[in-house]
Amino acid sequence: MKRTAIYPGTFDPITLGHVDVVQRGLKLFERIVIGVAENPGKGPMFDLERRLAMVRETFANEPGVEAVAFNGLLVDLAHEQSAQAILRGLRAASDFEYEFQMATMNRRLDERIETVFVMAREDYTFVSSRFIREIASMGGDVSELVPETVLPHLKRANQGE
Ligand code: PNS
Repeated sequence: MKRTAIYPGTFDPITLGHVDVVQRGLKLFERIVIGVAENPGKGPMFDLERRLAMVRETFANEPGVEAVAFNGLLVDLAHEQSAQAILRGLRAASDFEYEFQMATMNRRLDERIETVFVMAREDYTFVSSRFIREIASMGGDVSELVPETVLPHLKRANQGE
């Protein structure tokens, strides 16, 4: 059985910080399934289909990476995908509390699934989807912060499409 991790998130949109986490994860896992959460509570800028498409386009040439949409519990997705672990990235200490709560909660839900953290590359510690959305919507340049595949989607969103 392939060592598999689920990398869950909202990916609204995927950033180079996320890509870095996946690349680090591939050193530890043979297969990474990116779980794109519907997450309507967050009122995402891009609908689920668009977020999933951006992730798939970004990893189109990476055979170890797949992407699926999900709207239930993360541990259920992990079972469906025969994953042994959940992969998350840590940027700064400020991420820790939320990540700690989530990892602990997921462990309560299923003791067998381990959450594994990798540290994002220093260049990306300040990158977040929220700031990407804000900067892009105000006409700022985010081309060095997101994969190239995301740029046309941001442009279309700015044009109200
Ligand atoms: O990119 P985000 O917004 O930090 O990702 C949050 C996400 C999708 C990982 C989280 O909201 C999640 O796991 N949602 C699925 C529902 C679930 O399993 N909740 C219990 C774990 S606390």
